[in-house]
Amino acid sequence: MIRTFRWTDYAAVAAVWAAAAREIVPRAELELKLARDPELFLVAVDGDRVAGVVLGTWDGRRGWILRLAVDPARRRQGIAAALVRELEGRFRALGCPRVNLLVMPDNEAGLRFWQALGYLPMPDVLCTKPL
Ligand SMILES: CC(C)(COP(=O)(O)OP(=O)(O)OC[C@H]1O[C@@H](n2cnc3c(N)ncnc32)[C@H](O)[C@@H]1OP(=O)(O)O)[C@@H](O)C(=O)NCCC(=O)NCCS
Repeated sequence: MIRTFRWTDYAAVAAVWAAAAREIVPRAELELKLARDPELFLVAVDGDRVAGVVLGTWDGRRGWILRLAVDPARRRQGIAAALVRELEGRFRALGCPRVNLLVMPDNEAGLRFWQALGYLPMPDVLCTKPL
């Protein structure tokens, strides 16, 4: 089942991110995010176990998908695809016309996954600066 994140999921979500070698979003960062668009942070649950997670953000112009991860023991069962489809539906409900995401260039499996769902690579280069 896909549902909105609850704080009681945090430890299990952090464990899925860790198992997938994804950076764990600290609680303080999540609190700020959840004050804006809590319905875009989704978990896939099986009973009381968290099998997957995805974090969406909406800036009023574009949607962004971050930190998608599935428990390594639960992969290739359609869990990530179900998470992303639910998130896309929630973006559409907000009037969001386009969704972006970043994939590390060496993440071949990740890139294949996104392409299977219709996400195409763009030539843009990410630029960033700490504030
Ligand atoms: C990428 C990831 C989220 C996919 O999760 P998943 O639940 O196994 O994906 P799904 O079962 O929904 O896969 C849907 C389709 O994507 C493609 N796909 C998924 N994983 C793939 C892989 N390792 N190699 C090639 N294609 C893959 C397939 O077309 C698959 O359909 P199929 O199983 O019928 O062939 C998961 O492997 C993961 O957590 N990886 C580590 C973190 C990561 O890379 N996150 C995304 C980067 S931004």
